[in-house]
Amino acid sequence: MLSLFYKPQPIIEERGESHFVPAHPLPRQKPLGLLGMAIGARRNLIGDWMAQHYRSGVDSFRMLNRQIVVVNAPVAVKHVMVTHNAIYERKSPQMRRALEYLLGDGLFISDGKTWQRRRPLVADIVHKNRLPAFAPTMEDVAGALAARWAARELGDSVDMLAEMAELTAEIIARTVFGSQLGAKAANQVISGFTEYQKHVDSFNLGYFLGSDEGWAIRRSRGLRQGAERVQKVIDEVVNRHLQGDGDDDSMLQLLVKRRAKSPELGLDVEALRNEAATIFMAGHETTASLLTWCWYCLANAPWAEGALHRELDDVLGGRPPQVSDVANLPYARAVIEETLRLYPPVPILSRQASQTDRLGNLDIEKGALVLVIPWLLHRAEDLWDKPRHFMPNRFLGEARPKPYSYVPFAVGPRICAGLAFGLTEAILCLATLAQRFRVRPVAEGPVEPVCRLTLRPKNGLVARVEAR
Ligand code: HEM
Repeated sequence: MLSLFYKPQPIIEERGESHFVPAHPLPRQKPLGLLGMAIGARRNLIGDWMAQHYRSGVDSFRMLNRQIVVVNAPVAVKHVMVTHNAIYERKSPQMRRALEYLLGDGLFISDGKTWQRRRPLVADIVHKNRLPAFAPTMEDVAGALAARWAARELGDSVDMLAEMAELTAEIIARTVFGSQLGAKAANQVISGFTEYQKHVDSFNLGYFLGSDEGWAIRRSRGLRQGAERVQKVIDEVVNRHLQGDGDDDSMLQLLVKRRAKSPELGLDVEALRNEAATIFMAGHETTASLLTWCWYCLANAPWAEGALHRELDDVLGGRPPQVSDVANLPYARAVIEETLRLYPPVPILSRQASQTDRLGNLDIEKGALVLVIPWLLHRAEDLWDKPRHFMPNRFLGEARPKPYSYVPFAVGPRICAGLAFGLTEAILCLATLAQRFRVRPVAEGPVEPVCRLTLRPKNGLVARVEAR
């Protein structure tokens, strides 16, 4: 019945001798009706954009009582995210409502005083200056996965998304929380968050009908089970620290000390849990998605894979990479940056205008849904050469994208707090594994990129790991 109003777009993928256009939905030529839009948004937030949105510009349309503004030009991105950030600091009710059950008032969705008080605390904890302290653990955990892959029966296939999530969950658990998570707990978080994404309603009807705060989402059984599975693991880690059983240098220990020293910060146990959950989720899910897309692109672009292998062999000469090598691996970095362009793990940055504003010639209403969409911006035909092609070379040497046209970590005061952590971790993990292995997807046909909260391949990425 619903298929009368909505049919998903076909997924396009194209490969040749020396080019690869990775999977993406065919842009729509005609707009969807209201019902179609609502069904499509529930299914996949990046699935139904029109051909015109794959060019830079600003578009405004209405859904029921709500103005929706698509901010897809560098100068407008700067306006919303940087110069007028105060008006757009608040996340959209869609996003807040979708995540509050899992993250409470954690930094990713908080604003105002709570955000101002806690941003420096959280940013300090994962700051790039602390990277040297995190390095040995990142190296150990990535090396341990390489050892597990080496011991695995050749020919077995695995879900690369789950594999990468286990890797990044273990890294965040050990570096930031100072506790070994173990495969069982890591799997609980991964499957819990997968379940949560599957059941979460990322389309908030109440907001479009006029409620500025949106409606609380329906806590279906699947959603509750997903959230509970994640929270159980986080609670155990937090409780261990509160009982004085944590690592001295860990993030939670720093927060626990800060809490004792500065009661005015209002960092109660609830806040500790929420910030821990936020760092945990923001810090592993994104990097796992990035690495999964990276394997998919490399497997289909043998010339890029070859260039990466040559760099790894030249620079490392067979020894396992360390964090200090990351600066000397420009091609590995370019592969990661190009993957972030084509598959930004957070493909939509959604905000709610706290007052009226004027953006170029456009009047923005108070309460409008304002969307900066890296998925579109990074594929804008007038901003990028061959925007749909996978071409790591575009990030080599002095060449940099035009300012505000490339924002996989957002930009402005709310820029990703873990940018340096995530980039370094991704390059190190890629180098450690690609040095010894190739990943070969086994599914027939293209994968479908789907965004409900983060951008993932629908049904994961089933692949075989082959020794190089
Ligand atoms: C490749 C990896 C990553 C990507 C692409 C990424 C991307 C992003 C983006 C786009 C935002 C802003 C969202 C918005 O404005 O709506 C964000 C925020 C955030 N990220 Fe990341 N992230 C990554 C890794 C990490 C890591 C490793 C950590 C922690 C260790 C982290 C912690 C955070 C936090 C705490 C925020 C909220 C910041 C705030 O609102 O003040 N992220 N991330």
